[in-house]
Amino acid sequence: MEAATPKPVLILGGGLMGLAIAHQLARRGLAVQVLSRRRSEAAGFVAAGMLAPHAEGLNGPLLELGQRSLERIPAWVAQIEADSGLACGLRRCGIVVPFTNAAERDAYPTASWGTPLNRTGLEREIPGIGPLWQAGLLFLQDGQIDNRRRLMRALERACVGLGVEFQEGSEVLELVRDGNGALAGARLRTAEGEQRQLAAIQAVLTCGAWSGQLLPELPIVPVKGQMLSLQGPRQALERVVFGPGTYLVPREDGLLVVGATSEAEVGFAEGLTPDGQRSLQNGIASLLPAASSWPPMERWWGFRPCTPDEAPLLGKSSIPGLWLAAGHHRNGVLLAAITAELLAGALLGQERDDGLLEAFHWSRFS
Ligand code: GLY
Repeated sequence: MEAATPKPVLILGGGLMGLAIAHQLARRGLAVQVLSRRRSEAAGFVAAGMLAPHAEGLNGPLLELGQRSLERIPAWVAQIEADSGLACGLRRCGIVVPFTNAAERDAYPTASWGTPLNRTGLEREIPGIGPLWQAGLLFLQDGQIDNRRRLMRALERACVGLGVEFQEGSEVLELVRDGNGALAGARLRTAEGEQRQLAAIQAVLTCGAWSGQLLPELPIVPVKGQMLSLQGPRQALERVVFGPGTYLVPREDGLLVVGATSEAEVGFAEGLTPDGQRSLQNGIASLLPAASSWPPMERWWGFRPCTPDEAPLLGKSSIPGLWLAAGHHRNGVLLAAITAELLAGALLGQERDDGLLEAFHWSRFS
């Protein structure tokens, strides 16, 4: 008698977390199926790709998680590039956080991880920085990756090459449970309106800002971000500039990705707004006045998945067999590498004993 084919692990959500976890599971030999409603709404396509645990001023366990991910990123990216044959645009370019005075700089939560800059140092690191900024912190260890144009595509190709199956246009309507309450599968609706049920004993919930719609006990709300890009001259700016309310992320070809509004009160309201776009334009004029005249390229928006403490929900859920990797808020691109490693280890029963997953268990809010 032939052995039954093992049921694939279902990844509920085709964004960056879903792809990163699918990739690690497939590399470890598991059958994986990714269910994705609309790829274009994934936060992985919206973000600027900053790798910035220090520049974002994280602290506590979230800083540790971010630092662990940052350490892992070069090897993780090398794996994705080797599996896909595509470059991901990783740049260890350093990030400068500007301040109006030295006292503000010295009070920054991660000040001890950075190099303090005075006005002369700021001008050296960011030629053309606006006159408001008199001090800064340079975090050489932080950087960026070209998530929108490269990383997402490379990950998808790496997954396909490793046999991951994709069901694009599949909205998961409901989790199916067995008589003991354990996960038994997912009911979904395809883009053509057909409803289907897939059997599974393991799944990972990676639905970003929409995660609470499948599992209402998850305290995840959307925080909208509007962004734009400009085409600058190549090498006009080498480092990322992370100002209050606006940041500038220069890609290798001179494209300047500018982010982002942080709108917690608008729910899932779609679209650009004049106020949002104006606040970005004002931020550009203040940080790098010359960039105000660079040609605009694109404008877009998306929804960060935010929890009450702005840290992710990782590991076991209340449903046996269902795992969580959601709520990464402002740090999804940074945290994808460590999230994928931790979740793949946990699904395979190879949990690390350093308490890292425990610190991000969903029950901290219950
Ligand atoms: N990490 C930057 C942002 O969420 O806007």
